[in-house]
Amino acid sequence: MGVSGSGKSTVGKLLAEDLNIPFFDGDDFHAKSNIIKMSRGQALTDGDRFGWLQSLNSLAKKQLEKNSCIIVCSALKKKYRELLSKDIQNNTKWIFLQGSFEEITDRINKRTNHFMNSEMLKSQFDILEEPKDAIKIDINLKPKEIIALVKNQLESKSEFGLFGLGVMGKSLCRNLANNGFKISMFNRHVDGLEVDIAKKFKSEFPELSSASAFDDISAFVNTLQQPRRIMLMVNAGKTIDYVIKDLLPHLSENDILIDGGNSNYKKTKERIEYLKTKNIHFIGAGISGGEEGALKGPSIMPSGDKETYTQVKDYLETISAKDENNLPCCTYVGPQGSGHFIKMVHNGIEYVEMQLLAEVSTILKNLGQNPDQIANTLDSWKDKASSYLLEITTSILRKKEGEDWLVNKILDTAGNKGTGNWTTIASAELGVPSTLIASALFSRYISFYKEERIRLNINFERQSSSELNVTTNNVLEAYQFARIINHYQGFKLINEASKKFSWNLNLSEIARIWTNGCIIKSRLMQDLVEVLKDTDNLLVNAQIIAMINHYKPSAKKVVSQCVLNDLTVPALSEAIQFFNGITTVYASANIIQAQRDYFGAHTYQRIDDNSEKFHHTDWKN
Ligand code: 6PG
Repeated sequence: MGVSGSGKSTVGKLLAEDLNIPFFDGDDFHAKSNIIKMSRGQALTDGDRFGWLQSLNSLAKKQLEKNSCIIVCSALKKKYRELLSKDIQNNTKWIFLQGSFEEITDRINKRTNHFMNSEMLKSQFDILEEPKDAIKIDINLKPKEIIALVKNQLESKSEFGLFGLGVMGKSLCRNLANNGFKISMFNRHVDGLEVDIAKKFKSEFPELSSASAFDDISAFVNTLQQPRRIMLMVNAGKTIDYVIKDLLPHLSENDILIDGGNSNYKKTKERIEYLKTKNIHFIGAGISGGEEGALKGPSIMPSGDKETYTQVKDYLETISAKDENNLPCCTYVGPQGSGHFIKMVHNGIEYVEMQLLAEVSTILKNLGQNPDQIANTLDSWKDKASSYLLEITTSILRKKEGEDWLVNKILDTAGNKGTGNWTTIASAELGVPSTLIASALFSRYISFYKEERIRLNINFERQSSSELNVTTNNVLEAYQFARIINHYQGFKLINEASKKFSWNLNLSEIARIWTNGCIIKSRLMQDLVEVLKDTDNLLVNAQIIAMINHYKPSAKKVVSQCVLNDLTVPALSEAIQFFNGITTVYASANIIQAQRDYFGAHTYQRIDDNSEKFHHTDWKN
């Protein structure tokens, strides 16, 4: 169905040929009286059409007795379609060839021997009631593409496959289904441990009623439209390679695998290259937002081949969170493993933001505030420093178990799954000073040594914190100071990687997709979208310079007071140390160079020699 000129006959004939069923052009079934009317340029009335539509309905019924058929007919009104499919609604599939008035006029004008005045076309658009239950096809696609699309949909195969039904996989399935996508879901079978996971999951949620559930790889893959789109939501690391190995024999050329886990960016590059040799596409997509984000809209960071991205774009962008302008928090990041790289840095920034909130809470505690009071203080910072992590820390602090606060009962050793570790390694490999990330990571490592901490605590005297001379506003400003340095370092790391690997990443766009859906969404991130449009260095922006100058005195005061009172605030301290380092004209590295030259003849350059020549001194004589 579709207005005149939408290409119904061409597509209908091709489809009938492809499906090996008869083709009928509705126009060939008009009564003589209708033909005369039309040849005079007169529009048909509903009454004129009644008999004609009835005869097409009889034709369809007769054909259905044998097999099936393709009938083309404009079928513009709902009641026409009801008549056409009378008594055979369940056996009728509508395919709507959709185009704008301008597009169709343009097409008609290009055709020789075909004339349709624009008034008549306009009248067709006026009466068109778009079907809700049709397979909608964009007329701008090539006929071959249209046939493939229609066939895929007629066979009612799933558009998207989700492999691995852990917490994130399950939430993403529901998100896809809630957005109207037909999906297939797979979870492996492990005797006694993972039994009927997919089937049970499907039965739990009504939105999954049209989803297909499997624990057999071959059956799962076979229910997917080609080229297949399969998102892997399994543990990062070796598991991804095992899953690829298991899937490969069932895949066909041009199928697309999307790794939505926290995979290492170098591995993602290797996997893209390996799968290319098998003619399979691979997209590495960082996904942030935890269980709730995955369900309601995560931030998605896909990378790989740009052309491949266009084939999964609709799915990923639809299920992603939306920014303040309602744009998807999902964008094509860049080539290779750049999506997983920026997700890794996202987690590095996340580690620091978490560590800073932990340090700030410790300071407020030492100012005499109980967890509820700390929560109130953090809550009062929302205007200036709002962020998802600030918000959840506030609720965490308020949570009580009986008379006491739950935080007071949580063991003080922090876990990690490795991405902060990778960010620190990547910084070292790229020669980028991401000192806050390292500091936050190593603070978690120090926390592991609980027994040693207890043992050593006895050996050394510690200053009591009662002399802590800072206001809560000082603490807020120190916190904000360190957060700016954290974001400066994070974007610097991304920028250096982008240059080194020729990824050509768009920092502002990365900040934009981090303004919603993800763990590090914040007011500051929203501000950075604009800042990063003009520069890739946060510390040259006038607004940021003003903020740093305003916050620095408090940062100095808080850190020095903490040092004097033996309070551990590594990330806050490192923010000041790093800032002083990166803004120092003459650093102490001249002494390092001299030492290197002294014991190893490593040579040094001189500030009074512009030739950049390397010098060596015989230091002992
Ligand atoms: C996210 C998070 C998530 C991360 C966990 C655990 O963006 O949704 O970054 O991907 O894996 O928060 O990280 P750690 O166990 O290393 O703290």
